[in-house]
Amino acid sequence: MEIFPLGQLRTVSGEVTPGNRVSRTLRIRNAAMAVAMDLKGKRVLDLGCAEGLHSLYMAESADEVVGVDHRESVVSIAGKSAEMLEKKNVTFLRGDIRNTNFLKELGRFDLVVAWGFLHRVSDPISALSLICSLSDCLSLEWRTPIVPFAKSISIAYHNPVAEKLDPMNIEESADSAVTGTDDENKIESSSGFWEPTIGAVRAIVRRNGFYDYKIFGYGDRFTSGSVTAFSKWGSHLYRLIARRDISHQIPVGRLHAMFFKKGKAVSVSKPSQAISKIPAWDLAMIEKCGIGKRI
Ligand SMILES: C[S@@+](CC[C@H](N)C(=O)[O-])C[C@H]1O[C@@H](n2cnc3c(N)ncnc32)[C@H](O)[C@@H]1O
Repeated sequence: MEIFPLGQLRTVSGEVTPGNRVSRTLRIRNAAMAVAMDLKGKRVLDLGCAEGLHSLYMAESADEVVGVDHRESVVSIAGKSAEMLEKKNVTFLRGDIRNTNFLKELGRFDLVVAWGFLHRVSDPISALSLICSLSDCLSLEWRTPIVPFAKSISIAYHNPVAEKLDPMNIEESADSAVTGTDDENKIESSSGFWEPTIGAVRAIVRRNGFYDYKIFGYGDRFTSGSVTAFSKWGSHLYRLIARRDISHQIPVGRLHAMFFKKGKAVSVSKPSQAISKIPAWDLAMIEKCGIGKRI
């Protein structure tokens, strides 16, 4: 298991987009993976790309990147950023990931990236099967329950914290649901549906021929499963003493994993090498905006 010491990685600024999206841990972790992957000569699909920051990172080394999101507001920000940076090898499209025809028309990809997405769809089995038909290699990041034997049990946790049945999955309301920063943050942080274990995701992708996988780790620093379980359950039990109302909850964490058909994995470099691959335009933007200085 490779541990990514993300504490050493500068945060992405988010300010590179015309929309003011402050840096968040979600972006930091996924940004690390975006620069760590060796994408030379590859065609990449970024599903649920939001404002496209990771797509733009990946476009630094990939041949071509297509970013898809069903919110018009974010797709337009992503497009403006690509224009601003004069990136010709990245395209942003508005589209629903559950629309089979729309996705199939995009053709085949060397890698499909779906970060912060799986736990948001109400039917992860269909969504995953569809994603599997587009590529031989998937990079997934999702919210997962921290439970023992997660690799061998196929369960999905319906997080009671996510009271809403993901407004982002209702296309018509996708934009209206996220008016204003507060709402947006609320929805981004609290919406969710099924949170599958790695065992559940494996069971689904195996049916589609993806027999191999690699776990990169949990949380901001890509820590190992046992470290994550220890710290998550430790703090959960501690909170339980103070709050009985959370007794029906279990801890969840973010997991990064790659699933692939034999010999089709994308190689991922060591973080020390990845750090040097942060695009110069983002470092310049961090300097200029004076934010995101957490190192
Ligand atoms: C939590 S954000 C993750 C953004 C980005 N991938 C990241 O890692 O920071 C999830 C994104 O998926 C998009 N999304 C959710 N359901 C979708 C769907 N059915 N079709 C297209 N995009 C969807 C949302 O609009 C949102 O921008």
